[in-house]
Amino acid sequence: MRLRFYLLIMDSITVDGVQIFLSKPTELEMDWIGQDDVLEQLLAAWATIDEADLPMCPRILGQPGSGKTTLAYAAAKKSNKDVYIFQCTADTRPEDLIITPVMGSKQEIRYHASGLVTAMITGGACILDEGNRMPEKSWASLAPLLDKRRYVESILAGVQIKAHPDFRICVTMNQDASVFDIPDYIGSRLQPKIHVSYPSRENEIAILQYNIPFAPKEIVDYVVDFLQKAHGQDAAYSVRDGVNIARFMLKLSAREDQPLPKDKFSTYFRMAVTKILDDDAIDILDGKRPRPKFTFPQGFANQVLKINDFIDDLDDDSSDDDEDDDSIAGDKDRDGKKKKK
Ligand SMILES: Nc1ncnc2c1ncn2[C@@H]1O[C@H](COP(=O)(O)OP(=O)(O)O)[C@@H](O)[C@H]1O
Ligand SMILES: [Mg+2]
Repeated sequence: MRLRFYLLIMDSITVDGVQIFLSKPTELEMDWIGQDDVLEQLLAAWATIDEADLPMCPRILGQPGSGKTTLAYAAAKKSNKDVYIFQCTADTRPEDLIITPVMGSKQEIRYHASGLVTAMITGGACILDEGNRMPEKSWASLAPLLDKRRYVESILAGVQIKAHPDFRICVTMNQDASVFDIPDYIGSRLQPKIHVSYPSRENEIAILQYNIPFAPKEIVDYVVDFLQKAHGQDAAYSVRDGVNIARFMLKLSAREDQPLPKDKFSTYFRMAVTKILDDDAIDILDGKRPRPKFTFPQGFANQVLKINDFIDDLDDDSSDDDEDDDSIAGDKDRDGKKKKK
């Protein structure tokens, strides 16, 4: 208990003589409703059953808006941990994940630990959110953390940081075309795979009521009817879409005299569905099967990146040729290679 108090007031630690400033945990109102099985799987993966046992590093998979981040956050809070959510993007660099140097007010360099490293130091939980938005090279720095070595190395600060025994990590991943395939050696460390699927009608009603407690039951029922029809057709409309439809519909109808006449109710509901989703969603609402859509396969982003690299290489080659014509000595380094500008 005393140790925990000490950690909470601490905003920096010294590792191998280097002072490292810590990040703040994320505090949110987020409970997990229904689907106890996935919560149990995540808690089991994080548990240790023997002194020689280690926690696992699960990945949570599902469609965007299906509740992955909510599940991870709720599991970490249920384990009484501070939670650090690290949002992964296509621009995340290896050092962003670990320690970043920042210029201090006296022109000195201060080393700032990411949420991930702060969780490692303080024994918190880190959610690497939307991990497969991150390109392959950023994953490499995490390989030793995700196996029994449980450490990361910061090249910039020149330190190695070992994870506290209470540290836990999980990665959420969307299953759509906007993401990268993760490399196999990382995939084999991010186990088990926990799939968040569409909730049952009963759970979906409870989730909507929890997220929009002021929504009349009639609106919640209307939205859940629509969502359940969509799930039945495997249309990628999620709980988040349902929450947004209900909220927008409530805002639109709040501008009218109450109670809302029946015909207006339906008009605003259809308007909210088309504005939040698309015209195809109306087909589902009307009980029609939507037109089949072309979707890019998962991992498509990798292919785009490879093509971009290829085009960049071609551009580099041709601009090198151009430069050779009127070569400017100052633009080349000692090996005769073109300097990066
Ligand atoms: N089982 C659930 N319990 C509580 N809220 C949920 C649940 N599933 C989805 N939600 C709600 O749906 C929305 C999207 O959830 P989120 O976790 O952000 O999805 P994802 O990370 O999969 O994109 C949030 O408003 C969240 O509160
Ligand atoms: Mg998320």
